[in-house]
Amino acid sequence: MAGQTDHALRGDYSQMRPDYTVVQDYSRYTAAEQDLWKRLYARQSALIPQYACDEFIDILSVLNFGAGIPHFDEINAKLKPATGWTLVAVPGLIPDDVFFTHLANRRFPVSVWLRNPQEFDYIVEPDIFHDFFGHVPLLFNKFFADYLEAYGIGGVKAKGLNALDYLARLYWYTVEFGLIQTPKGLRTYGAGILSSGGELPYCVESARPHRIKFDLLRVMQSNYKIDTFQETYFVIDSFKQLFEATAPDFTPYYAELRGRQNLSANEVIAEDKLVKV
Ligand code: PHE
Ligand code: CO
Repeated sequence: MAGQTDHALRGDYSQMRPDYTVVQDYSRYTAAEQDLWKRLYARQSALIPQYACDEFIDILSVLNFGAGIPHFDEINAKLKPATGWTLVAVPGLIPDDVFFTHLANRRFPVSVWLRNPQEFDYIVEPDIFHDFFGHVPLLFNKFFADYLEAYGIGGVKAKGLNALDYLARLYWYTVEFGLIQTPKGLRTYGAGILSSGGELPYCVESARPHRIKFDLLRVMQSNYKIDTFQETYFVIDSFKQLFEATAPDFTPYYAELRGRQNLSANEVIAEDKLVKV
């Protein structure tokens, strides 16, 4: 996840370079952490066939990184030739502008630390399991890879236009918590869901949340909750649709949004096209 936080960050920021990257000191991972990784991976990968989109399922089984905490170098040797992306190690959450600049250059920041065993089900800050399991597989998908780079470029621009709140919602409701309509039914491509044991079944099966067809301005108008399962999901038809909808210059969209009321996380409006499960 990327995003704001109001608590002290838990990573070690003392050794970082000016661009917030660090070396992934692999020897620091303990046997207990390797074991925790295997257990996290086993639980999530068992749920993936039923709830993730095919693009994610297919590459996950090829990458097959469940035997232990992955070496970033080894994944980069496959990722770079596939889509031009590289993983960079970071201490944890990083400032928005630094994050956007990495994305704009096809570098994906991955936290180096792993959660505690007590945080098996829930973690406040993104750790290496969320960042890696949730985000890395789709970096191998061409459309998704292009989308994320465009998002980074758009982020630098949005910061200059004072529109980061709008753009952050787009990241939240797509990259982190997006749903996609597929021939197999509703599936997810969102990293925040893919790395969560509870939200994977909930997002497509629960009667509780709203599921609304993706509409760019509607998404950027909508607040979100960071400490519960989502109350609303937005559903795309394809990554191509997402990429094309976000291709235009957002400057006039931000102006339009400033004239609208933000919507709360559980609100439904007349224009919404609801999606049945
Ligand atoms: N097209 C957007 C802009 O001009 C940039 C963007 C692309 C944002 C993709 C998000 C996702 O600001
Ligand atoms: Co994330």
